[in-house]
Formats: sequence, C-alpha cells, structure tokens
Amino acid sequence: MKTNLIHKGDCVEIMQKEIDKGSIDLIFADPPYNLSGNGLQWKGNTTGGDWFMVNEAWDRMSAPEYMQFTRQWIGASHQTLKDGGSIYIACSYHNIAEVMIVLRQLDFKINNIITWQKTNAMPNMTRRVFTHSTEFIVWGVKGKKWTFNNEDLKNLNPDKQADGSPKALRDVWPLPLVQGKERIRGKDNRAIHPTQKPEELLRRVIVASSNKGDIVLDPFLGSGTTTYMAKKLGRKWIGIEKEGKYVEVAKKRMNI
Ligand SMILES: C[S@@+](CC[C@H](N)C(=O)[O-])C[C@H]1O[C@@H](n2cnc3c(N)ncnc32)[C@H](O)[C@@H]1O
Repeated sequence: MKTNLIHKGDCVEIMQKEIDKGSIDLIFADPPYNLSGNGLQWKGNTTGGDWFMVNEAWDRMSAPEYMQFTRQWIGASHQTLKDGGSIYIACSYHNIAEVMIVLRQLDFKINNIITWQKTNAMPNMTRRVFTHSTEFIVWGVKGKKWTFNNEDLKNLNPDKQADGSPKALRDVWPLPLVQGKERIRGKDNRAIHPTQKPEELLRRVIVASSNKGDIVLDPFLGSGTTTYMAKKLGRKWIGIEKEGKYVEVAKKRMNI
C-alpha cells in the first residue's frame, strides 16, 4: 500500500478499496459535525477578521442520514486500524452522541474525551444559550495494547510542576482557533477552509499515539493539517478528501 499521498474521493469507498486492512497505527478524523444551515456570520471582527459560521453542503444531513454516515465511516476506519491502533475523533455537542454510540457498538475502548477549550471562541450570536467555547476529541482504541507516549507529551505541556519539572498533560487543552500566519487564506483574505484545526492540537494527538515511521490516516483531510504535522513529526501519512478545492490546498501545503 502506498503512503505519503492524498486520495481524492469518498473516505468510506477509499478506506474499503485502497487502504490495507489492519495497516494503520493512528487515525485522526474531523468529520462534518452536521451543523451547517443557519448562515451566521460576523463581518468586521477586528481581532481575527470576518467570521462565517460553517455553512457547507458536506455538512448538512438529516438525523438518520447522519447516524448512518457515522456508522459507515467509523466502521471503515475500524477495519483499517491495526490491533492496538488509535482513533481520535473531533466533535462537538452537535455530534458527540452519534460518535460515542458507534464507537461503543464497534467495541472500541474509550480512553479519553479531550476538551479543546477555544481560548478565542466566537461570541454568542443568538444570546439565548451559554457561549460555546469547546469542542471534543474522543480517543478510542482497538484492542488492549495502545501507544501512549506520556514522557514526550510532558515535554509539550506548557504547564510545569511547582519545581519547574515537566507535568503530565491533562485532558483539557486550552488552544486558540487558528489565526495569523497559520490560517490559510485566499486572495480575498477569507479563510480557505472553514474548520482548519490548530497544528498544536494535531501535534499532541500524533505524539501521544504514534511513533516515528508509523502510518497516520486522516479520512476528512480538509486543508491538510494532519498530514502536514504527521510529515513534520516523521510519520508516514495518508489523507482522504472529497472536495477538489481542498485537495489542492492540502497538496500545496504538503509540497506535492
Ligand atoms: C471538518 S473538515 C476537516 C478540516 C481539517 N481537519 C483541517 O484542519 O483542515 C471535514 C472535511 O471532510 C470533507 N468531507 C466531507 N465528507 C467527506 C467524505 N465522505 N469523504 C471524504 N471527505 C469528506 C469535507 O470536504 C471537509 O473538507
């Protein structure tokens, strides 16, 4: 099986046809959260530039369709994983229920639900609920012998013990939404991908649950954050993305 490449197409089909069963050490998946539709936007935001709520055709399904879709892609992911392999799934309050049900049905062991606390979260546009400032990353493992590089993670932790020594990383990660130089923007200065994930978040996931030379797969690659960080950290990488415009962005980011 070829590695260090980006497949264009539907991730379920590609995982079934192109990825060897039992070959993948780590999957990071940032699927559609199924939250598009209301077109909220905030133009003239002075700190981070204009902001538009995710509003994409790939992110709009009925509840039964979304359940079915979640079953299909997590099922295909399960087949590609090695025994001892890990899957990290990004989600929010919109879709964590479907993700957890399917992981349990497939007998994944849930090791953590990491909370990504967005330190520069967007303001509450509706003013009818608490301001949303978190997303989650559910970590599931196939089998009992998983990789967890605790010492390497301690070195990534900005928090230290009282005596200045490294401290174990907790399951709440305060990290900003991607802005500044890291945010990939088009000529109109609008963010090219609406849900580009922070590189630091991917660094933590990849360091935690893979080793140099291992294969990291992202079935919903988007702008290519996972493959970019996997390459940087000396892992082999495979990305899958169905939209041609994002495949091009990710390829450019990978210099391929
Ligand atoms: C939430 S975004 C991922 C963003 C990515 N983590 C990043 O940092 O840029 C989800 C991506 O999955 C893609 N997508 C949606 N359905 C897909 C499918 N069935 N197969 C492959 N890609 C899909 C969308 O085009 C979108 O780019």
